[in-house]
Amino acid sequence: MSNYQIQSLEEYFQVYRKSVLDPESFWEEIAEENFTWHKRWDAVLSYDLNTPQIKWFEGAKLNITENCIDRHLYSRGDKTAIIFEPNDPSESAEHITYNDLKDRVCRFANVLKEQGIEKGDRVCIYLPMIPELAVSVLACARIGAIHSVVFAGFSAAALATRINDCDCKMVLTSDGSFRGTKTIDLKGIVDEALESCPDIKKVLVAKRINSKIEMKEGRDLWLQPLLDAAYRDCVPEIMDAEDPLFILYTSGSTGKPKGMVHSTAGYMVYTAYTFKNVFQYREDDVYWCTADIGWITGHSYILYGPLANGATTVMFEGVPNYPDWGRFWEVVEKHKVNQFYTAPTAIRALAKEDLSFVNKHDLSSLKILGTVGEPINEEAWHWYNDNIGNKKNPIVDTWWQTETGGIMISPIPFSTPTIPTFATLPLPGIQPTLMDEHGNELKGNQVDGHLCIKFPWPSMARTIWGNHKRYKETYFSTYKNKYFTGDGALRDSTGYYRITGRVDDVIIVSGHNLGTAPIEDAINEHTAVAESAIVGFPHEIKGNALYGYVILKETGESRDHTNLRKEINQIITEHIGPIAKLDKVQFVIGLPKTRSGKIMRRILRKIACKDTSNLGDISTLLNPEVVADIMKNVV
Ligand code: WT7
Repeated sequence: MSNYQIQSLEEYFQVYRKSVLDPESFWEEIAEENFTWHKRWDAVLSYDLNTPQIKWFEGAKLNITENCIDRHLYSRGDKTAIIFEPNDPSESAEHITYNDLKDRVCRFANVLKEQGIEKGDRVCIYLPMIPELAVSVLACARIGAIHSVVFAGFSAAALATRINDCDCKMVLTSDGSFRGTKTIDLKGIVDEALESCPDIKKVLVAKRINSKIEMKEGRDLWLQPLLDAAYRDCVPEIMDAEDPLFILYTSGSTGKPKGMVHSTAGYMVYTAYTFKNVFQYREDDVYWCTADIGWITGHSYILYGPLANGATTVMFEGVPNYPDWGRFWEVVEKHKVNQFYTAPTAIRALAKEDLSFVNKHDLSSLKILGTVGEPINEEAWHWYNDNIGNKKNPIVDTWWQTETGGIMISPIPFSTPTIPTFATLPLPGIQPTLMDEHGNELKGNQVDGHLCIKFPWPSMARTIWGNHKRYKETYFSTYKNKYFTGDGALRDSTGYYRITGRVDDVIIVSGHNLGTAPIEDAINEHTAVAESAIVGFPHEIKGNALYGYVILKETGESRDHTNLRKEINQIITEHIGPIAKLDKVQFVIGLPKTRSGKIMRRILRKIACKDTSNLGDISTLLNPEVVADIMKNVV
């Protein structure tokens, strides 16, 4: 794929124009030139954003693993596909070539088949960042099973919800995981989750930490002996373009998590094209994205996008501060990383540490830096640019979402001039627009509003598993015939986009997308709690942290508030996971509500941010008296 890589700003504008004027022939050409198809599509695109129904490359037949592995074997069989860098630097890295990957994916695929997995079945993958995670994802795709990876930091309850929501047939896990100096008992968490998942009949367990775990007779099997016995070739299942490739859960502003369903051909074409352009990947480059494969970033830009380009992609098991805060830079030096992609929250944490952790490493291999997950503040941007990029490596601030499947707004490095905090311009094929609160499109520049996308792109999620109605309501009902992102953005005088943050009840904490409702539901499970409301407030490292307002059933001085705070966070950890813990908890006598009973989060947000100069008109509230009380006792 050496063509189709934009090399100048002029070329970008040219390509962009073409992609908007004639999207079908634009994507058709890319699909034609760069991939292996078993049958050509009958139509490039058919869609109705009202239903909504979106189909790309309908009628085409393919297997994505053939595109990510087999087709590279002739020219790149001995090239490293995945560099596995373990948690502990004293353990040596593993270089998995494309030939090895083929062998391992095929064996794993055969094991899945022997254990009863068929095309269309859902397989839950709850694994740490070890090669088995990458291999199992691809093994599912090899046989047409739908993978549902659950980030291995989620609690047993959160895992169970996700297993049951899409009726998974099997769980893949490990005896545990390493995280810095700690180990985590993943198998124990799976055992607990499965108490409420009666349909799971098989659990395959990879060995990682060699801990003593319980294997449930008849249900649990060690993975390695099965792999050793499996045949090393597996003919890929030929899939339809629109067959689901995977489900990935993301939190919404209300209710249970949404199982976003991604399809095969469009997702492949888009992630491959964007990887190639946003990271300007060249044949011998080593690319590293620090995300976990449990998130969309890992799906699209550790696995599918890089592998579809025959790239070398680093998979890192560890954490940024083990053995010390120089770990990222040590890995960059060791593997001569050329493209480095991480989250603003990690940059802020690293920037707080001594520069000697950076300076003792040779970062001269770096060419391009990237960020994703939340708006990057100016200070963090400069620290990244000055100390990691040596003021010469372009930074790509990439805006996208679990739902979009791939990067949507981003500079093309070396072509698009960058400005700190701006994601800059839409990638080819992406037609963003800003809307005002009355549903009008904001024309021209220097405007801000709600960010929507007005034309389909190949990697957009096609539905929410089991709930197409919610898909329509969440994304296609706020603005007619447009995809609503849930983000606010501004467009400056040159047409550059800057994402300003969520405009709904989703809060991004350390780059993790958290809905307020599920956290509130968890808190309300505490026997002493009557009601609660969560808002975000700015946090130096996490970007946002959570502030909880809690009404107790019985007030009175006798309650031990310190203990209650701990118990509330304990419940949140059990229901969702430690990432959703509250930084601050305030016990209140009431929550400000409108006359129709809706909590006025805007007021709570201002109080939590200690910005009470302009609370607006509170006299129309049902209970204006609670506001003064909340302000008086703010933590
Ligand atoms: C939300 C999506 C996409 C992979 C990781 C997150 C925020 C993401 C940026 C950015 C400002 C960003 C948005 C978006 N976001 N990237 N470069 N600048 N905000 O995926 O968990 O689905 O979260 O992350 O608010 O809607 P996700």
